[in-house]
Amino acid sequence: MPTPTPLAGYTSYKNLPQLAGLCTIEEAMQPGLLVEECVRRLKRFHYCFKRLHQILTARITAEPIYELKTGFAHHAYLCAEHVTALRTRIAEMREPPLGLEEVPHPSLEAFFDEMLNAPTTEELVNGVYQTAIPHLIAEIERYQHETNPLTDAPSRRLLRFALLELNDMNEFGRKAAEALPQIDSDWLELLESLYAESHGADHGTPRRYSVKPYVYDPIPRRDERFTDPWNQGVNAESFLYNEAYPARAKALMMLYKRLREIDVPEMMARIITQTPGQPWGYYRDMSRQLWDEARHAMMGEVGFVALGVDWTKAKITLNWSYRLNTECTPMEAHGVLYFIEQGLMPRTGKRYEFEVARDSGLPLIATLQDFDWADEVLHSQIGREWYVPHFASLKEALDYGDRAWSKILSNWTTVKEQGLTQHENWWPAVYEMACRAEGVPPDPTVLAFNETYEGKRADLKEVAAGLSG
Ligand SMILES: [Fe+2]
Ligand SMILES: [Fe+2]
Repeated sequence: MPTPTPLAGYTSYKNLPQLAGLCTIEEAMQPGLLVEECVRRLKRFHYCFKRLHQILTARITAEPIYELKTGFAHHAYLCAEHVTALRTRIAEMREPPLGLEEVPHPSLEAFFDEMLNAPTTEELVNGVYQTAIPHLIAEIERYQHETNPLTDAPSRRLLRFALLELNDMNEFGRKAAEALPQIDSDWLELLESLYAESHGADHGTPRRYSVKPYVYDPIPRRDERFTDPWNQGVNAESFLYNEAYPARAKALMMLYKRLREIDVPEMMARIITQTPGQPWGYYRDMSRQLWDEARHAMMGEVGFVALGVDWTKAKITLNWSYRLNTECTPMEAHGVLYFIEQGLMPRTGKRYEFEVARDSGLPLIATLQDFDWADEVLHSQIGREWYVPHFASLKEALDYGDRAWSKILSNWTTVKEQGLTQHENWWPAVYEMACRAEGVPPDPTVLAFNETYEGKRADLKEVAAGLSG
């Protein structure tokens, strides 16, 4: 059939931008992809983001390196948001939201299974950030180029945001891979083969690490800067809620509480990983909360640095996530989290923490606590949406969390007897460091603080209120 000749010299009125600023007429005259092909590719991107979310989440708990733990928490959340956006878009394209759970190609499944099962941090980082994400970027860029910018403007819009964040992830991964030991490239070649097969090539590539099904590792691990992870020697809540102590010192203690929250991503990753079959909104919201909790930990880190304190001298425990992950079911752990977050009462809660931060005269700490408080309000809503409806009433939901929490009696003596910790009182050293950086003499009463979590069974609720979340 003959091709028509386009109109020559067509311009917009008074040279105003054409086509609402999307693109030029020439660009929009290229036919581009049909809806069916767009849907096929968008479903493939959806699958990739879903698997990346799953892999990064599942590996948070047992990843020892703090910078990677928090990085995984961030990127898992970003992937969850892109999954949500893609699901919405696909449902707009004459497509019932069915078929979203299908695997686009068995080799693509094997490709991601290999990363989920990667035995080392280095392999995981190289697989996810140096292989999967660059391939996903390239596929999305090709889509952006091949689809019609006018007809498919809604898809191009959301993929533009996805590319922004994928490129950030790529950059993070490149730097991380450089900082970590090099790995044997055999396995990366295997990944490349599987990926090529997922586009139709047939190499007959056998699986290596994913021959056996993945088993989630619930044991929280930390890097060597966390030198005394069973230490329960400083009762942060006792200090914080005691009117005798000044706000400035309490601000320092709150930074400890914030950094200690790195245990929340460790236990939430477990809840998400071991709670299959929920509506997608559940995973999105829980991943948002997990990421918030990782941010709260990083707020603590930033605050310590700002106050001239080496945070490794404050002993950051993993007792809470370890025990929830090994002694409670995922539902019980969710109950404990909700119970604690609801237990943030006015006197000892987030408003109080903000007021203390404000009164400390340290604007940074006030900012940190203000946003921590705002996040907490959101977490309460997330709990009401996804946890409470499992029960007949709010009271039952809270009681369940309370009972689950009571299952974990204080192990202060046990860990000491096992030689895991001496519950050293690290507070004076940390407080003195902060005073030195400030150029003021330590307050003898503050310096003498020496209350531990020993025998706090009767006060568990009060302790719980400050523990995490
Ligand atoms: Fe938090
Ligand atoms: Fe929270």
